[in-house]
Amino acid sequence: MANPDLVKQFGVKLLGIYTGGVLTQLIDIGYQVGLFEAAKTGPATSQELADRAGLKERYVREWLGSMVTSGIFSYTPASRTYALPEEHAALLTGNAHTNAAPTSRMINHFGSHLQRLTSCFREGGGISYSAYRPVFTQCMDDTWRRIYDGLLVSGFISAVKGLPAMLGKGIRVMDIGCGTGHAMNILAREFPQSTFVGYDIAEDAIAGAREEAKSFGLTNVSFEVVDVAALPSDPKFDLITAFDAIHDQRAPDAVLEGACRALALDGAFLMIEFKFSSRLEENISNPFAPMYYGFSLMHCMPVSLALDGQGLGTVWGEQLARQYLAKAGFGSVTVLDSPRPQNSIFVARH
Ligand SMILES: C[S@@+](CC[C@H](N)C(=O)[O-])C[C@H]1O[C@@H](n2cnc3c(N)ncnc32)[C@H](O)[C@@H]1O
Repeated sequence: MANPDLVKQFGVKLLGIYTGGVLTQLIDIGYQVGLFEAAKTGPATSQELADRAGLKERYVREWLGSMVTSGIFSYTPASRTYALPEEHAALLTGNAHTNAAPTSRMINHFGSHLQRLTSCFREGGGISYSAYRPVFTQCMDDTWRRIYDGLLVSGFISAVKGLPAMLGKGIRVMDIGCGTGHAMNILAREFPQSTFVGYDIAEDAIAGAREEAKSFGLTNVSFEVVDVAALPSDPKFDLITAFDAIHDQRAPDAVLEGACRALALDGAFLMIEFKFSSRLEENISNPFAPMYYGFSLMHCMPVSLALDGQGLGTVWGEQLARQYLAKAGFGSVTVLDSPRPQNSIFVARH
């Protein structure tokens, strides 16, 4: 017979899980309509906050009810004012990579495919990348542009000894699955002696990348719609990067083999992936694990399986990633900590 205390304990946990699900939707709304930014100015009544953001007070007040009772906002009954503590604003507002609000939109977008995903459990197959566009492209851009702005040069690139100096002298760089290209555009602006190319299969992403390069006035970067499973082996590149772009491929082995063939003899391949073990039991105490297995299930795995692909999933883990890199022909692989705790930087060489 089930232990009633443990049932009660799990009931409390479940309430927290469901509350988190609802709050994720409400954070998404608050982010999209600008309520967190509006609250940053200082304590306000629901009417004042609605006026600041140009919204309907009744909706704002109900939203605030959830925000206050969940502890995201504080409330002063005497003045009927609501406040977003500075420490909470640090993680829900602004253009820094610490703003976690865009993640709520991504989670809710993944949730909009649940009906199709449920039938995949019964029938197999997957959900094509195109079904997620254009919202997925926008969400990726919204999340990662902040990370690239804050951490690309000082964190990811500088983690590899000698790389900033090489980029400063002038090398050829290719980015695999470049999305909207912000990483390459930042590097092209920072290192004018080097030349950069970004490949992605998504036409909307490439259009955005080209537009940004133009707005930055860059002449040392280009973007092409290319299936990276068939990368040309010439010309060679001194640096090849793949930011969160290998595990969801249809044929990650072919992509890695192509990257190895296209890499100059003394070049480096930087693969930024999620920092997990390939063994489930070693991920149990990792606080990121449930969310990333979920992201995998709701996006990264089905986009690959939709193409009859390998469906590695987001949590393929370091051990399996090392096997794939070795099989692709990389003779040496070093795994470095990334400036974000949930990522690793794989540095692979010939
Ligand atoms: C998770 S997103 C990462 C995007 C980008 N690196 C970023 O940081 O925003 C993976 C990207 O890989 C692209 N992709 C998937 N399969 C591809 C393929 N076979 N050839 C080229 N790009 C592909 C997707 O269109 C998507 O933009």
